[in-house]
Amino acid sequence: MSLLSLRHISKQFGALFALDDVSVDFNAGEVVALLGDNGAGKSTLIKVISGTYVAESGEILLAGEKVAFASPRDALDAGIQTLFQDLALCDNLDVVANLFLGRELRRSVLPGLSFFDTARMRRRASELLRDLAVDLPSVDCKVRDLSGGQRQSVAIARAVNADCRIIIMDEPTAALGVAQTRKVLGLVRQLRDRGMAVIYITHNLHDVMDVCDRCVVMKNGRKIGEASTAAVGKDELANMIITGEIKPSAPASLQVRV
Ligand SMILES: Nc1ncnc2c1ncn2[C@@H]1O[C@H](COP(=O)(O)OP(=O)(O)OP(=O)(O)O)[C@@H](O)[C@H]1O
Ligand SMILES: [Mg+2]
Repeated sequence: MSLLSLRHISKQFGALFALDDVSVDFNAGEVVALLGDNGAGKSTLIKVISGTYVAESGEILLAGEKVAFASPRDALDAGIQTLFQDLALCDNLDVVANLFLGRELRRSVLPGLSFFDTARMRRRASELLRDLAVDLPSVDCKVRDLSGGQRQSVAIARAVNADCRIIIMDEPTAALGVAQTRKVLGLVRQLRDRGMAVIYITHNLHDVMDVCDRCVVMKNGRKIGEASTAAVGKDELANMIITGEIKPSAPASLQVRV
């Protein structure tokens, strides 16, 4: 059974079908690339999954159970974390505060009176970053002093700290250099190895080949095909994304039209 299944999802903006009868499954321990040219419907799809939009039709199943997300809070409570491109970190706070934002550890002093347990949060933050092999100057750094790759790593660590099962990343390496991209892709692999389902939106086919297990290609709000990454080449994917056509020579796995 898939961890997350979307069934016949449609979402309209006026007369425009931003999503048109899209069905797709996401599994635990798998990185799925969500591909498609500008306006294909990728962001709309993740906004439906993350509770920002409610689809007009179709259903969402989480571990086989039908769910309805009326708000981003509902999706978060169900263990779905979305890393949007702006990352929504608090620049003026340090790494520890960002990792525990909204879910601070507390220490009880008297009945009904508690304080933030900064020492415990600091310790847990160091452990988490060490486990994930995230290299930062210090957990006491303000986030504004970190590089783009380090900020992306903090955002990913925060999602892990929030115990999510599904993590959606919207172009996580778009603004990063080569070395930083490599680190972030390493983190994505670690998330998969921890059994999370990762949904990875990108225009970078190199990243896809490097880290994604499966590709789902969209065009004009429809899913036009999907394939295991090992079975397709970059050129085939690029051709599909641009033309929406599947070449007759493409592997059978890509020929699934839904
Ligand atoms: N809030 C909105 N109101 C009206 N139309 C919208 C809205 N959001 C998206 N659309 C339209 O829905 C379609 C799908 O947009 P979406 O943002 O999902 O595409 P995308 O695949 O994420 O593209 P990109 O790669 O450019 O980010 C587009 O035609 C877009 O103009
Ligand atoms: Mg988008």
